[in-house]
Formats: sequence, C-alpha cells, structure tokens
Amino acid sequence: MLNQPPLTNLQARDINAVLHPYTPIHKLQTNGPLVIGHGKGVYVYDTQGRGYIEGMSGLWCAGLGFGEEELIEAATEQLRSLPYYHLFGAKGTESAIELAEKLKEIAPVPISKVFFTSSGSEANDTQVKFAWYMNNAMGRPNKKKIISRVKAYHGVTVMAASLTGLPGNHIGWDLPVDRVLHTDCPHYYRFGKDGESEAEFVQRAAQSLRDMIEREGPDTIAAFIAEPVMGAGGVIVPPAGYYEAIQAILDEHDIIMIADEVITGFGRTGNWWGSQTLGMKPKTISAAKQLTAAYAPLGAVMVPEDIYQAYVDHSAQIGSFGHGFTYGGHPLGCALGVKAIEIYQKRDIVGQVRKIAPLFAARMEKLRDHPLVGETRFSGLMGAVELVADKKTKRSFDPKQGVGMGVSKFCEAHGAILRAIGDSIAFCPPMIITEAELNELFDRFEKALDDGEAWVSKEGLRTPA
Ligand SMILES: Cc1ncc(COP(=O)(O)O)c(C=O)c1O
Repeated sequence: MLNQPPLTNLQARDINAVLHPYTPIHKLQTNGPLVIGHGKGVYVYDTQGRGYIEGMSGLWCAGLGFGEEELIEAATEQLRSLPYYHLFGAKGTESAIELAEKLKEIAPVPISKVFFTSSGSEANDTQVKFAWYMNNAMGRPNKKKIISRVKAYHGVTVMAASLTGLPGNHIGWDLPVDRVLHTDCPHYYRFGKDGESEAEFVQRAAQSLRDMIEREGPDTIAAFIAEPVMGAGGVIVPPAGYYEAIQAILDEHDIIMIADEVITGFGRTGNWWGSQTLGMKPKTISAAKQLTAAYAPLGAVMVPEDIYQAYVDHSAQIGSFGHGFTYGGHPLGCALGVKAIEIYQKRDIVGQVRKIAPLFAARMEKLRDHPLVGETRFSGLMGAVELVADKKTKRSFDPKQGVGMGVSKFCEAHGAILRAIGDSIAFCPPMIITEAELNELFDRFEKALDDGEAWVSKEGLRTPA
C-alpha cells in the first residue's frame, strides 16, 4: 500500500477532537483524515491544495457540485431576511410553503402534503411513525410491521437503522428493533442461483415476499420501504419487472409502498425520480440530499390526500399531531430547496443526466474486462464496480483484506474520490459533470484499479484464507 506521509497540523487536531461517522476509528488514529478545504464545480481541494474529482457528490448529494453562486445567493438572501423559523403550532414560512408547492408539482404520484425534516433518516423515521399513526387512525392497531430489504440503506436513527439491512448498522448497536422485517435483496449477480434467469429470480423474490407476508399475517404489516436503486448497499439496480411483481403483492394485502428517494430523487437516474425509472408506484415518498443540492440539511416526507385525511381525523380525535423537528423545514434549507429545483428545471438537469448517462454506461461496461472486476451496475449517473477475487466463480475477497478500501485509497492518490462499499466502488458524480470531467474520473479510476491489481497480486490476496 501507499506510504503514509507525516500528519499535518489539521490532521493531528482532528484526531484529537473529532469522532468521525462511518470510519474505522482505530485506523484514523494513525492515518488521520483527508481534510477538505474548498470546492469548485466537480472538484474538491484538500487543505494542502491537492484537487480531487468528487466522484460521489460527497454523500450522493452535492448534485450541482461546489461553489454554485445562485445557491449561495439564495442562502444569503434567506439568512438576511429570516435566518430561522419553524412550522410548529400553526406557524408558517414563505420558503416552506413555496418548496412544498414545488414538490407537489414535481412528485411522481399525486401528493397532498409535505412534512419537512432535517435529514433522510428523520424522513424515514417519520414514514414509520406516519404508517403507525395512519393505521391507528383507520382502526387497525395491529397493522404495524414494516418490511425492508437485506442491503437496504434508510439511515441511522434507531428506526431508520433498523430498516437498514446491513449488518454493520445492527451489530454492536442492539438493532434492529422489533416490527421490522427484511426480505430478499434484488441483486441478481450475487443472489441469483446457477442457471436461474433474471425473470425467475424476480419471481423467487416476489414469492419470498409473499411467503413472509403470509407467515407474519397481512393484517400485521403496514408498509414496504424501498430505495428504487439501492445506494449504500452497493448500488443495486433490481432486474426488470421486480417492482411490478412486488407492487401486485402489496396491493393484494393493503400494504403501502414507501419510496425512499433520498439518493434517487431530482434527476439522479435520468428521471426526476427513481420511482419513474424503475416502475415503482409508491404511496408516500422520502426525499433529502439533492433536495437542496446538499447546500443545507433538509428532508421531506410526501403524503397523498387519503392518508392526510386519516391524520386529520385522528388528530381531531386524540387532540394532537405530536411530531416535528426543531429544524424540520428550516427556512435556509427550504430556500435552497426552491432554488435547487429552479436550477434543475431551468438547466434541464434531467436532460443533462440523460445526455451523459450513455458515456457513464460505456465507461462502466469497459471496466468489466479488468481482472479485478466482477460486475459493474448503474442507473443514470449512479453506479458501482464490484471487485472480486475470481471473476469466473464470482468469489469475493476476504473482507478482512479490505481490497475495496485499498482501491479507494489508490483513487485518492490519483485525484478521485470514490466510495468503497465493502469491495464495491460506488460512483455518483455531480450531475453537472462534463464529458471531459467524466472521462478524467474514469481514467483516474482505471489507474487506481491497475494499482489495486498490482497490490492484490503482490500480496497474494486472491489466495483463499
Ligand atoms: C436511501 C437513503 N435513505 C436515507 C438516508 C439517510 O439520510 P441522512 O444521512 O440524511 O440521515 C440515506 C443516506 O445515505 C440514503 O442513502
């Protein structure tokens, strides 16, 4: 691996004072963090002035890149006129009203009301509470379980982390809590059986869901939550027909579909919403991240009229609607949300993603010939490259060897920030990326892959443990 340069002053101070999320904190003690100082366009720069193409839009969120003047102006204007207000106790703000109206206009299914949160996790936690509240309102007190999927990512608050279907979010954290079930992950490459077609795989996933619902009792299940394309589970694009098959079973049993559009919203997959790309017909939607192009934290839950009416009746009956976050619908976030959507519309960002997606797909497909690559998968401008020890048998590396993490470090050395999810390397570049920049990102990644191959061969990491 790469030699470790001496720590900078900022790195040393960071180690001394900051507890980092999603970080092997024992290693950070010696290696220190990559401290980012500023950003412009699709590039970020560390505090020593080295530039990196931000191939992940930060955390799948800075879709308009860095230093976007129109957003900066909108934020400044909002901070001057009203830096903070809330929506509790029948208060309102112009920016929240405007953003809710915009979201209703662009939503993929009919939406009546928008509830604002500060993050994606809070949006999904709210979804669960709303599903429970709805079924209490409808006199169905037992219809409360939520079905999620293995490898799903829905956030880290207690309920959102329970919905998440990744062991790392459960082990050591006493999760998941009860009332949460995980059905099959729709990843054909990893979970398809020998000789099974994609269509048969879809039928098996659907049957497995049906069996789970029948085993648990349909009258105990409130909702099914799904990211149209799974993001943090490794960018998993379900095979054709998957959501249609799932939806039919949910409809049969009066179970609502919640779309977690926290990553896939606002053009990422080549439509405004991932639901549209993947053929989902959700009842309610969670959004965050690109909602404000990541210039301020904000999340949203969108609900249709019939569910809203159930809340109205129930809150009248019990005398309260006891849910809300201090910063949910923060005027700064809402003003940025309004401006981000205006930019997506006037610059035709969806069209831009569609225009550049074939190049993204072509560069992804070309990587399949590399000796380290087992599969590449993508939708619009998000994708992943899965590294394997044996291409023929799809055998993975021993996770302890940290091959994905090693390759992501080589990426950094070549000036590209990409994220290792186990041994899959995720791509989610800003949607404003040009063809030249995208080619440069893949050129840098290819160099990192070659470094990875040399390292794996030299260290004998393909040998089974
Ligand atoms: C699909 C999805 N849902 C929810 C979340 C959680 O969002 P947040 O980190 O804003 O709480 C994420 C974060 O990556 C996500 O990818």
